[in-house]
Amino acid sequence: MNINNRPSGIYQIHLPKYCFLFVTILISSCQNAQELKTEQYFAEGFQLYTTNCANCHQTDGKGMANLYPPLSGSASIKDKALFACIIKNGMKDTIVVAGKKFSRPMPANSKLTELEIAEIITYVSMKWSADSTLTSIDLVSKSLQQCAAVD
Ligand code: HEC
Repeated sequence: MNINNRPSGIYQIHLPKYCFLFVTILISSCQNAQELKTEQYFAEGFQLYTTNCANCHQTDGKGMANLYPPLSGSASIKDKALFACIIKNGMKDTIVVAGKKFSRPMPANSKLTELEIAEIITYVSMKWSADSTLTSIDLVSKSLQQCAAVD
């Protein structure tokens, strides 16, 4: 009888199991951290939207008459780079959204930080577009460099 075979036999059976468990815990805790961050961005974004945008685009994102365009259903919010630039620099154009023409200028938000813009985009995109997770500061940062170059 070889006693030494027993423990190694046990390890052979159980080690992969523990490894799997460990990796699962690791992955799920990463997911939780990302989910928590998304919730924070969404909550902050809601506050910032309420203070900086809802006057015109309204709390429900549907805009107002032919003065302020709706954000829900707008193609511009799906293009994150464009969206970031519009928030930061405002816009002065004539656009048609959902069959209505809008030609009033939107003021710039030069005081909003990149984090705040990311939070607003997160809120708007999760609320009125198809996003299920946050929009990163990094993406906003890169987008703003691009629109600054165009202007
Ligand atoms: C003073 C009113 C006002 C405020 C405040 C305002 N907007 Fe606007 N927004 C407008 C107007 C007016 C337009 C249309 C501009 C044009 O026709 O050139 C517009 C256009 C937009 C568009 C483009 C819509 C499209 O379909 O192309 C987006 C996106 C947008 N606003 C998001 C925001 C966000 C986010 C905020 C808050 C940070 C904000 N706006 C604050 C008035 C406002």
